[in-house]
Amino acid sequence: MTVTSVNNKPAAEIPVKHSAGKTTLNTLKIMRQSQRPIAMLTCYDFPTAKILATCGVPVLLVGDSAATTVLGESSTIHATMDFMVLLTRAVRRGAPEVFLMGDMPFGSYATVESAVGNGKRFLAEAGADCVKLECDLRHESIVRAMTMAGIPVCAHLGLLPQRAVQQGGYRYQGRTEQEADRLVREAVAMEQAGAELLLLEAVPDRVSQRIVEAVDCPVLGCGAGPSCHGHVLVLHDMLGYTEKVPRFVERFGTVTAAVAEAASAYVQAVETRAYPQVRHQYGVKES
Ligand code: KIV
Repeated sequence: MTVTSVNNKPAAEIPVKHSAGKTTLNTLKIMRQSQRPIAMLTCYDFPTAKILATCGVPVLLVGDSAATTVLGESSTIHATMDFMVLLTRAVRRGAPEVFLMGDMPFGSYATVESAVGNGKRFLAEAGADCVKLECDLRHESIVRAMTMAGIPVCAHLGLLPQRAVQQGGYRYQGRTEQEADRLVREAVAMEQAGAELLLLEAVPDRVSQRIVEAVDCPVLGCGAGPSCHGHVLVLHDMLGYTEKVPRFVERFGTVTAAVAEAASAYVQAVETRAYPQVRHQYGVKES
């Protein structure tokens, strides 16, 4: 199903929301307390960030999914620190007031030293408000050291794409009681280590519900059911750029059709010499 209308209004007529000031960690905590759902999207570039900011998206994630969505790589492990910092800076320029989350790429938080150093780069060089890292219980000391160093952390639990091989593929997590218990333990441990936010990817809602009850911080879900305080989708999935999407993805637009239509019209205009016209040309002064 493609969602092109809200309350029977065509998408084009949905009023554009303007931001009411800078979204902070505190805003997200208040949203959790007041049960106001948090809408979050991935974003990788300046012009898109500008659009998303005017639509009132409070949280943007510069995900390492950029390796697949933007670069066409087969997995997220191809994202590098320099690439992620560059993209995060671009998104910050386009959306100065959103809460901006940078995604620590594969290998960038393998040790306490590298995690703190690279986390600082996201904040100081790229203007991120927090960083996200794919965690399990073994990351407790890393999360603790990062938060002690003043780096706000979002702990990503559940399906960990950077560890797809170790997890046996892109499989949803928390399938059994033991797995669910482990995820709850991980969530509590990450919050106790200082994580300010949790992100659950591909877990059943029953597991999310247990986690939401066990922690005080906002819990963001990516295919983790309605119990989460907020939800994130990969922009390219929800815009219809991606052909094969996980079952939890809803398509809210079909951007490919619009891009294809414009590109085809351009090709036709060039081939028929309808473009360029006189108004597109520069003149030469008669000396
Ligand atoms: O990289 C990414 O886009 C993510 C989301 C799937 C949560 O981590």
